[in-house]
Amino acid sequence: MKDRIDQLVAEVESLKAGSLEEVEQLRLKYLSKKGLVSALFDDFKSVASEKKREVGQLLNELKNTANQKIDELKSGFDTEETTLSENQDPSRPAFFQPGSRHPLSIVRNQINEIFSRIGFTVADGPEIEDDWHNFSALNFTADHPARDMQDTFFIATNPDILLRTHTSSIQIRTMETTKPPIRMVFPGRVFRNEAISARAHCIFHQVEGLYIDKHVSFADLKQTLMYFAKEMFGENTKIRLRPSYFPFTEPSGEMDVSCNICGGVGCNICKYTGWVEILGCGMVDPNALENCGIDSQIYTGFAFGMGIERITMLKYQIKDLRLFFENDVRFLRQFSGAF
Ligand code: PHE
Repeated sequence: MKDRIDQLVAEVESLKAGSLEEVEQLRLKYLSKKGLVSALFDDFKSVASEKKREVGQLLNELKNTANQKIDELKSGFDTEETTLSENQDPSRPAFFQPGSRHPLSIVRNQINEIFSRIGFTVADGPEIEDDWHNFSALNFTADHPARDMQDTFFIATNPDILLRTHTSSIQIRTMETTKPPIRMVFPGRVFRNEAISARAHCIFHQVEGLYIDKHVSFADLKQTLMYFAKEMFGENTKIRLRPSYFPFTEPSGEMDVSCNICGGVGCNICKYTGWVEILGCGMVDPNALENCGIDSQIYTGFAFGMGIERITMLKYQIKDLRLFFENDVRFLRQFSGAF
């Protein structure tokens, strides 16, 4: 009897099955009422009583081994039936939950794309700058009061090195290395030592535009900005240019767009004026051209710079700039699907 049990244990342990039906056949063969294991239990009755305890234990072990083996073989095959509901498509690529782009990235891409349609290419520059590219070459002389307009983060050990306060530094880098004609936009992150509030942050984003060629005029600047405003905010958008001052442009201006939230009637976003300021601009000052080795007798150009946060707030009616930096998924998820 013991030999028979050992033999069956060895047999059961080496069982293999190629399908669920085969597993079921094996279960019947060993474990059903008329199976080989059950037959041994029948024989157990005739075992001498002093051996019953030992043999009984072995028999139970055999039964457990057989049960385990059958379960193990079964789990090798997926027994769960999958049913397709009406709107499931099994030929679709594997599904995954995509994240959403940050609203600032969406708007930055849109700005790049609007300008690339009229021949502007996109370039970048370093966030850690030197005084020359952020200020001096842009016609901010050493003691120019306009340096105070932008509260600058300097590197403590070297006042010549700073975090760029505007993307105009990339204008200089580009003009130093590229021969006109130049038609480019420069998106990037900029830094100013400002208190954080609903309307200001110490880190924000700008896109700078630069166009240098022979005979570039203020009319070209105005036309380009009007095209941009209509593409960005809609065909009915109006623009308004007000005189302003930047050391690196002459003449300089600031551009307002008609408030796209109230349609110009007046609301709290436009402070009941019907207009919202979105950018600074002007004709590149001849000094800035000469500082970069471009002959200002031959070439003229225009530049403009806008804050991406401001444009995004207007476009999506976002009232607090801090939302852009908090990474609250409830805010960010609202932009899923947009590129
Ligand atoms: N750099 C200016 C600013 O940050 C904006 C600007 C860019 C103005 C280009 C004129 C021309 O305020």
